[in-house]
Amino acid sequence: MTRDPGRAPVTGSVTVRAAAKVNLHLGVGAPRPDGFHPLVTVYQAVGLHDDLTATAAAAGEGLTLTLDAEPHVDASAVPLDETNIAVRAGLALAAHHGRAADARLHVHKSVPVAGGLAGGSADAAAALVALDRLWDCRTPDTDLLRIAADLGSDVPFALLGGTALGTGRGEVVDPIPDLGPWWWVVVPADEGLSTPAVYRHLDALRPDGPDGPAAPTPASPVLTALGAGDPHALAAALHNDLQEPALDLRPALGDLLESGERAGALRGIVSGSGPTCVFLCADAPAARSTAGALRAAGHPTVLVVPAPVAGAHVVDVPLEQALPGDPFRTSGDPR
Ligand code: C5P
Repeated sequence: MTRDPGRAPVTGSVTVRAAAKVNLHLGVGAPRPDGFHPLVTVYQAVGLHDDLTATAAAAGEGLTLTLDAEPHVDASAVPLDETNIAVRAGLALAAHHGRAADARLHVHKSVPVAGGLAGGSADAAAALVALDRLWDCRTPDTDLLRIAADLGSDVPFALLGGTALGTGRGEVVDPIPDLGPWWWVVVPADEGLSTPAVYRHLDALRPDGPDGPAAPTPASPVLTALGAGDPHALAAALHNDLQEPALDLRPALGDLLESGERAGALRGIVSGSGPTCVFLCADAPAARSTAGALRAAGHPTVLVVPAPVAGAHVVDVPLEQALPGDPFRTSGDPR
């Protein structure tokens, strides 16, 4: 985790960037007694980000949230109240330290909503890192990961970034060495899919009893391909148990996967619970030409992104608190 601890508390505002994820492997077992599914997954953080700015607020003001979004993101269904996962993250951090939760949060969304890219989890991770800095909490990494896990299965990975093995319900994360860069073409859908609905549909499609999969399939083919640094091997190893139910709920995605592969991608898969489709390409030029062909075929939003990228990290603090040549001061206007 690259949080930048040990600096002076921030009195103005702090901006944190957090990335979307794709699942290179998503093996899903039979549901546990708590309703969650045991997973063996390989997460990879991709170069598509939400930026969250936390600004100091007066005592008693509470946590408020505003947001704006890139044109390709429909954020109209994102709640701004205490059900928003970024606000819940702030409340959880404040409760952990027994302190008041006063701050203004603003999210700039580039990650599609309900797209299978963990955009909400990215916002939660960004809120944890930004408020930890703004409030000068200096939360140990292990505590922050535990708070993240309570917020959602993908939130610990959004803190970690890079490439990681996820187990448990996805919240237990272990970094994996990754010889990237890998190049992905990302095609969001107009309308999101509900993650619980896709998991439920997987259960419905699977045979009951001893024929059903009790344990998730292991990730060894993806781990081997990552170690070899070979995009062709990685393309062949990609695996997502949620793809079949997502395609069943949204059949048009099957045509999209085929057209991406015809356009030059090594392999297309549904990202997580979908409906975003992601296409692994041999290199950056191949990704650009695949994206061009998909745009020409009428897909309005087609993004080219490298991976892996960092987890939630500070990109901007007030100028007066940045040191000369501050390496993390990489974007934003001086305030
Ligand atoms: O953990 P998170 O809140 O992101 O999960 C959202 C929903 O996705 C859960 O309520 C559950 O329906 C489903 N889920 C699951 N098994 C997992 C992760 C998520 O069934 N391992």
